[in-house]
Amino acid sequence: MSSTNRSTILHPTRIDLSADIRVQVIDSLNQAVAVTTDLKSQTKQAHWNVKGMDFYQLHELFDEIAGELEEFIDLLAERVTALGGVAMGTIRMAVAASILPEYPVEILDGKDHIAALADRFAIYAKLLRDGIAQTDELGDADTADLYTEISRTVDMRLWFLEAHLQAGDMSAANSNGKPATAKTAAKTVAKTATAKTTAKKSKK
Ligand SMILES: [Fe+2]
Repeated sequence: MSSTNRSTILHPTRIDLSADIRVQVIDSLNQAVAVTTDLKSQTKQAHWNVKGMDFYQLHELFDEIAGELEEFIDLLAERVTALGGVAMGTIRMAVAASILPEYPVEILDGKDHIAALADRFAIYAKLLRDGIAQTDELGDADTADLYTEISRTVDMRLWFLEAHLQAGDMSAANSNGKPATAKTAAKTVAKTATAKTTAKKSKK
């Protein structure tokens, strides 16, 4: 986490975790607050701007996901304060500490919005899993449990998003080891169609 997004204030508390451990957990949590805040705003961006035949379904889905992320921000920030830290939760603090790429403004189609969100949810899911391992190792089972709870829902949401992209061709999503984008999926489908046509022609 960048020093601009780090509070050095640590309030006294009777909690039985040492100051050294609390500082490390608070840093991890504030990073998660920043990324969750960024992801929530990006999900709202998709909610407002998605277009196409699946507009209403996706508009609603994205709003539901943004609502969940808002709840996660509150849970993470309140764990920071429970540990005696200062929650770093403003938009400018989020900008300073988020690891997500900026949301593309030129996309319109539902598949492109889903792919953009899936890419970002994959980064977020990894951050949470790293958070589980780190806080577990530090001996803060409660923060690890909080991360686990959030992580489970985030993995489910990643599945929801990716399920929209995988209907045509599963290999399109996984062939390069990266989350599928509408473009890569479309390319693979086009390649398969060409191969099928060629095979048909050679049979004749
Ligand atoms: Fe709305």
